[in-house]
Amino acid sequence: MVEIIFKPTLHQFRTCLEFAEEFQLTAQDLILTNEYIYQPYFGQMNLGCHVLFQEKYGSGEPTDVMADAILADAARTGCKRVVAIGGGTVIDIAKVLAVSDGEGVDALYDKAPNLEKKRELVILPTTCGTGSEVTNISIMARTRLGTKLGLVSPAIYADHAVLIPQLLEGLPFGVFAASSIDALVHAVESALSPKATPYTKLFGYKAIEMIIRGYQKIAAEGREARIPLLEDFLLASNYAGLAFGTAGCAAVHATSYPLGGKYHVPHGESNYAMFTGVLKAYMELKQDGEIAVMNRYLADLLDCGVEAVYDKLEELLDQILPKKPLHEYGMTKEDIDEFAHSVITSQGRLMANNFVPLDEDRVRRIYTELF
Ligand SMILES: [Fe+2]
Repeated sequence: MVEIIFKPTLHQFRTCLEFAEEFQLTAQDLILTNEYIYQPYFGQMNLGCHVLFQEKYGSGEPTDVMADAILADAARTGCKRVVAIGGGTVIDIAKVLAVSDGEGVDALYDKAPNLEKKRELVILPTTCGTGSEVTNISIMARTRLGTKLGLVSPAIYADHAVLIPQLLEGLPFGVFAASSIDALVHAVESALSPKATPYTKLFGYKAIEMIIRGYQKIAAEGREARIPLLEDFLLASNYAGLAFGTAGCAAVHATSYPLGGKYHVPHGESNYAMFTGVLKAYMELKQDGEIAVMNRYLADLLDCGVEAVYDKLEELLDQILPKKPLHEYGMTKEDIDEFAHSVITSQGRLMANNFVPLDEDRVRRIYTELF
């Protein structure tokens, strides 16, 4: 049994300048980023490398169409190294750039997991959620299939993951909230996964503690209280990434993908919409084992009894990102059957990591209860 996979070399820098000096960026490098991140932090450095701004290829979460267009432009630069500076969208596309020799997204999905690293990959996350800098998965909407699917391969790991808390200072509160809730979900799902190990749980439970403690401070003192905590949240996101990189995510992610794919709900927000609904479904089927450990751990952090733990958790999370019923995201009653079916048929990779197996009927009921 694999205890933990830790592939990229992990770095932390106080400033972007220190990173640029250490990594000696040249014309052989391609930076994939967003202009609002690049200009303030790197614009004055005259780096001399190729720069592509992801937003020029479309807005929102990554799609196969967006990635194919960026792949074509990247091929023209002849770059040897890809440097991703951004949130989930930028990182997921950069991972595809690292394994493509000119093939488009569909061809890469067909070949996975037998992909080869074609360009060195350096990842600098600018949100505190995906943990994607340390995982071997790239997620995007397959527009022709109508859902989000993960491209998974050992070749997709970054060579270097670089943490610079300074890059998070400009993050709007809404993005901070959605991304950090995603990290919390990574930590909880991976701890409850049958593939969890003492090592993944070491990182996962520590991430949960850091995120809940941070939220309690923000709920008590206001949004600006997050600024001195950004390093903690960036580390927690990275810890949660290490945990789910080995132990996997599960039904919360699986059920949130059709919602995100069809109604373009941001990833962290659609996860939060499904989060406690899935935990309650698990509890209905099995109350002992790791879920009892998790509930006790959360109850201690939230200072409540275990029976009230999901309500108390939701009360706290609602102060960070208000939870909405699924119909408010545009979901219709007719979607319930369709989504449940798509989860069972297309999200087997994730559903295999559920704390207890959930069948199509129970998945349908989760959507119905949250509708
Ligand atoms: Fe996630």
